[in-house]
Formats: sequence, C-alpha cells, structure tokens
Amino acid sequence: MIEEKIIEILKSKSGYVSGEEISDHLRLSRQALWKHIQELRDSGYDIVAVPHLGYQLVQLPDRLFPQEIGSGLETKFIGKKIHYQEKVSSTMDLALNLGLQGASEGTVIVTESQSKGRGRLGRNWISPKYKGIYFSVILRPKISPLQASLLTILCAVGLCEAIKENAQIEPQIKWPNDLLINQKKIAGILTELNAEMDEVRFVNIGIGLNVNTEKKALISSATSLKEELGKEVNRVELLKAILRRIETNYLLFRENRRKEIIEKWREYNTTLGKRVKILVRNQHLEGQAVDIDLDGALLVRKDSGVVQKISSGDIILCR
Ligand code: BTN
Repeated sequence: MIEEKIIEILKSKSGYVSGEEISDHLRLSRQALWKHIQELRDSGYDIVAVPHLGYQLVQLPDRLFPQEIGSGLETKFIGKKIHYQEKVSSTMDLALNLGLQGASEGTVIVTESQSKGRGRLGRNWISPKYKGIYFSVILRPKISPLQASLLTILCAVGLCEAIKENAQIEPQIKWPNDLLINQKKIAGILTELNAEMDEVRFVNIGIGLNVNTEKKALISSATSLKEELGKEVNRVELLKAILRRIETNYLLFRENRRKEIIEKWREYNTTLGKRVKILVRNQHLEGQAVDIDLDGALLVRKDSGVVQKISSGDIILCR
C-alpha cells in the first residue's frame, strides 16, 4: 500500500523529507501525495507539513495497525499475516472462519474492541476500545487434542516474558490460563480446538490483556498495566514482544523441548504448593497442587494421598 510506503520513508528520516523526494520515489503526483498524507492523518499519524521543508512524522498512532505490528517484528511465522479490524464481535469468530478457510499457521487477528469478547466457561471478556490488546493466533501443531493444554501454558509463559521485558513488571500465572498482578487478573487466554478424535486441525489461541484500561472499566477482581504501573504502556511494542515470545516458546514445543517451557512456567506460577479447589465433571475436588506434567496438566494430591491429573478446569486458590 502507498500509505505504508510513505510511512516507511518518513520513519527512515529523523527530520523533514521533501514532498518532491517522496513523490519521485513513489512515482506520485504532489496532489496524490497530499491526499495520502491526509488519509494517514485521519487514521491517527501525526504528520507535520512545512512549506519548502516537506513532511515530518511526529507521532505514531496508538493503534494496532498491521503495518506497525509487522514493522521490525522479525518472527518466522507468527504475525507474518495480520488481519485487523477496528471492531469485531470476537477475534475468535474470525479466527475460526479463517482457520476453516485454511489460513496459514501464525495468522493473527487483532482488533481495537470486541462487542462479544469471550472468556472461558461462557464468561465475557470486556474489551474497551483502544485500551487493551485483544487478538487471536492460529496454530497448526501436529498433536493430539490431549496435548493442547501445553499450548495455553506456553502462551502464558510468553505473555509473562513479554510483559516483564516491556513493562518491567512480573505477572504470575494461575493455572491454566490466568495472568495475575497483585492477585488481580490482568490477562486471560482462551484456547479453542478444531480437531478430529486423534488429530488437531488447528488451534486458535485468544489473548486478552488489560493494558491501558481505566479502573472504572474493570471488575473488582481485575487490573490493568496502567493501574499497576501508574502510566500508559505502548500497546504496539507490547504486542510485538508478545508475538515474538509466543513464537519462541512454540518453537520449543515443536522441537519437543517441553521441559524448558515447564521450567519457565514454574518461575511465574502461583499455583504449585497451594491448596486448590476445582470442579471436575460436576464434582468438587480439593487438594494440594503439586506439579504440572509435560502435557501441561495439573497434578493435585487429594487428602487421601491419591494424585489426580487435571487437564482443564477453573481452580480456586485457597492458600
Ligand atoms: C479467560 O480468561 O477466560 C480468557 C479470556 C480471553 C479473551 C480473549 S480477547 C481476544 C480473544 N477473543 C475473544 O473473544 N476472547 C479472546
């Protein structure tokens, strides 16, 4: 797209770039260039125009535009294709359609707000406009459905690593899919499988992260990076870091280096060693969370001493 090229040129120079230079480079008339500059401004790019000097990019928009996410991303496959829509029902709906149409592994669907953002167990995911990061990524691992829990685990690790690197704050992981800061939920992961009995066709991982969300838009058990840090966080840079970290951990998974993922998970986890309550097939189970196995399942030692493997569920941490 011409507009992306204009931005590339403006980004490559620290000062003004003359209209003549851009028009010549892109073989555009000066009027056409001006029209594109107006369109870029409308979508939030702050571009200053000074007669005889030219154009200067002063500020990037606070939008998760694919060209911004893709610029300098340097991943192998995650985020090579990015679908962006300002507003969607749920990125999971789009991911399902794209997955069924054969979208390539690593395709990302990102939005600024969702009208029907969904969480696990039929819950809603509140997705206020321009405040959070809401996206889904399509993966095509060659695994059986039973091994899919580890994908949630590796994404949780990737999210923690990216948040630590980018926002200098360390979240904790509550098995299997919640990220907490100061015991409040900051992010959630939703994993949806499209599978046969013994083979996964594709997996959609949906991630919702409260970044610059104001307290009044959050429920009392949730928080945002802005609330915890007292300042806003750049969503574009954070999303890039998340995609990179998810890819790195997913490559470990593909190379069968699952132990390394679990070791990293242990560093962030807030579940092991705690007494937990969990609902499994309509039955309440209580015990001590003792470990997770290489499939990402939680091992709970019941009071009888028997250790039970839990592949999915919603746990309550007791102490
Ligand atoms: C949970 O904690 O229960 C999981 C929340 C997952 C929310 C994300 S936001 C992007 C993607 N689209 C959705 O509708 N849900 C996931």
